[in-house]
Amino acid sequence: MSIGPMQLRDLRVDPPLVLAPMAGLSHSALRQLVGKFGGCGLFYTEMLSARSLPFEAPASSSWLARGPGERPIIYQLLVSHPEEVPPALATIHTCGADGIDINMGCTAALIIKRGGGIALMREPARARAIIRGARQETNLPLLAKVRLGWNLDWDSFSGFCSMLQDSGVDALVVHPRLKEDRLKRPARWEYIARTKAFLRIPVIGNGDVDSPERAARMFRQTGCDAVMIGRAAVRQPWLFRDVATSLWGEAPIQIAPDPRGVFCDFLSLLDTTLPAEFRLPLLRHFVGYFAQNYAFGHTLWRLVHNAKSVAEAAAHADAFFQDHRPIDNRR
Ligand SMILES: Cc1cc2nc3c(=O)[nH]c(=O)nc-3n(C[C@H](O)[C@H](O)[C@H](O)COP(=O)(O)O)c2cc1C
Repeated sequence: MSIGPMQLRDLRVDPPLVLAPMAGLSHSALRQLVGKFGGCGLFYTEMLSARSLPFEAPASSSWLARGPGERPIIYQLLVSHPEEVPPALATIHTCGADGIDINMGCTAALIIKRGGGIALMREPARARAIIRGARQETNLPLLAKVRLGWNLDWDSFSGFCSMLQDSGVDALVVHPRLKEDRLKRPARWEYIARTKAFLRIPVIGNGDVDSPERAARMFRQTGCDAVMIGRAAVRQPWLFRDVATSLWGEAPIQIAPDPRGVFCDFLSLLDTTLPAEFRLPLLRHFVGYFAQNYAFGHTLWRLVHNAKSVAEAAAHADAFFQDHRPIDNRR
């Protein structure tokens, strides 16, 4: 199997492995942590509200800033109406973004009520106006991230994807689940393959990749141009390195990372990248995934969740690490 870099206008994504946008998780601290290990060819921000963006100060906003190891990076926008696009893109252009994505897959009730995320898949005319408007405002790579829609209906899904392509997106991210699936049932990879088979633009496959073997299988089974990984990269921020080494490297990886050291690195990155009031909630969110590296991960999770400060969480976690060895989930 020969898998090469993915080209999005002037942007070369090499290796074609992408960190997923995840609200509350894929902030600068996690992106820098992933970046330190290498192997990630493209980062995504968390979704950013197009309505609020013009009021953010790019120079000082923790949500818009990015460190040196987080490139190239796509800024993901949550857009409800076409008129939100020009001011939001003007702000993003000042951030040094490498590309822009429009979220068309979020299933949160509040977002749908506002007319964003997957609500756009039910209103193709509004979705088209948003993409056309964005295309007029930027020469950067423009992407859209979609789910399969509200019901399983290939004609309407494929028609929606064709419309996005014809309206100017440079690539499509396909997370093949329906609205009601949320993250529960297995992703239906066959729809990534079917989408890839008829679109001209690159297709990025997403859903349930948690190991080098599954990444290789997604490339092989779907023919996708790049693989996007979300939750498993929070659990194992070194996963992209493992996938890249397994698919393109010379030698297998011998050394399993020490999660204790990774946890400490994450704490110091939280400290340097995010305002104090966000650190404890974001640490708790991260630990929900990271604790899965331990057989008794629920103990680590509970210790961090019950802590009243980051310092207390760090002390409890340190005591936990002294008594517990991680599971080695490499196969
Ligand atoms: C906590 C969380 C937050 C997410 N936030 C976003 C988001 O802001 N934008 C988006 O397009 N998808 C979001 N997603 C969906 C992921 O990008 C991805 O499509 C999904 O997790 C499936 O990929 P995975 O199996 O590799 O995790 C989120 C997922 C999770 C678990």
